[in-house]
Amino acid sequence: MVGEQEMAPPKGEPILELKDVRVSFHTYAGEVRALNGINLTLYKGEVIGLVGESGCGKSVTAATIVGLLPENGEVKSGQIIFEGVDLLKKSKKEIRNLRSTKIAMVFQDPMTFLNPVLTIGEQLREVFTIDKKRLAQAALDYDLRRLKEEERDARDEAQSAKIRARIAELEGLRGNPPLPKRRRRRHVLDSLAAEALKKMRIPDAERIITEFPHELSGGMRQRVMIAMAIARDPDLLIADEITTALDVTIQAQILELLKILREEFNSTIMIITHDLGVVADLCDRVAVMYAGDVVEFSDARGLYQKPLHPYTQGLLRAVPRLTERPTMLESIPGSVPDLIYPPPACRFNPRCPYAWDLCRQKKPELLEVEKGHYTACHLYTEGSKRPSPS
Ligand SMILES: Nc1ncnc2c1ncn2[C@@H]1O[C@H](COP(=O)(O)OP(=O)(O)O)[C@@H](O)[C@H]1O
Ligand SMILES: [Mg+2]
Repeated sequence: MVGEQEMAPPKGEPILELKDVRVSFHTYAGEVRALNGINLTLYKGEVIGLVGESGCGKSVTAATIVGLLPENGEVKSGQIIFEGVDLLKKSKKEIRNLRSTKIAMVFQDPMTFLNPVLTIGEQLREVFTIDKKRLAQAALDYDLRRLKEEERDARDEAQSAKIRARIAELEGLRGNPPLPKRRRRRHVLDSLAAEALKKMRIPDAERIITEFPHELSGGMRQRVMIAMAIARDPDLLIADEITTALDVTIQAQILELLKILREEFNSTIMIITHDLGVVADLCDRVAVMYAGDVVEFSDARGLYQKPLHPYTQGLLRAVPRLTERPTMLESIPGSVPDLIYPPPACRFNPRCPYAWDLCRQKKPELLEVEKGHYTACHLYTEGSKRPSPS
């Protein structure tokens, strides 16, 4: 029964809900229908994987959530409910504000994120300075930590009692901590910056703080970027292909780091990758996208053990094993379609070994086929029956 419990879908409150979200891009060639009405729910504290071949709409999904669609992008319809409010109804300014406080995003290329002319320390200090309340809070935490260490090393009971009194006094300020004085601020900020780096297992944080982004290795830059995102203590962290450009050893280190993060850091994480192998033992649940649709969504174990959608089955066959290295093309013939003229109804139908008339006539809905396991495929739609091959 223990196993069943582990497999139970996450309980609790949804933090983010995408409801029938449609996004198009306007191009000279025509309208690119990039998101075709997607539905997704993320619960507080879970780690979700968003997977699919390149061009399936993963990055567009992320950009839509954080309000960073390029100029030619348009949200045609739908809702994105984040902590109870519809992000699509918010102004650009409000979204920007949310982005700097509650939702953080990290990308494949840290150089687009890091400022080349500022040292890592300067950039991290900026992160902590943006939000005055958080800075005050952080300064208070910093003082409390220091005092607790002092108390541990206290000479005698009298000194220890004195420190405890000071701790109690500071604890009293929790609700409304004062901003640290200018002179102290720099010190607090530096120590916060170093600490943020240490959380990312960066060994010589004090030195890294003095360096510029171009002086760091790719893997180190990636760690610094994640550190900066985490430093803001976001409620939701979106990581888009952050291990893709790294070589295999560094990739493994970053994944290991994400695993630590998911234990220590109590927020919701969305990991976007084209590589199903990456998310296997990192995610609670996995959503599979194909050509602008979420075609399967399940707890990770259910997805790997019993993929329902023919596309997911193909993707899993393409995950390289030690002995063989099949390519995606061998496994799923064809490629992601042109989204200006997408295939009718189920967008996967031209590549699907099981497709029949219905798949070209009616778009399958995302349905719960097994407990907590959703798929959008007529093989599982009630009342539909695939004609037996003659
Ligand atoms: N600015 C844009 N203009 C036109 N089409 C775009 C733009 N950005 C993305 N697309 C198209 O949207 C689709 C989804 O892209 P994307 O989300 O980047 O895929 P993924 O991240 O899954 O590789 C692709 O067909 C892509 O060509
Ligand atoms: Mg992408």
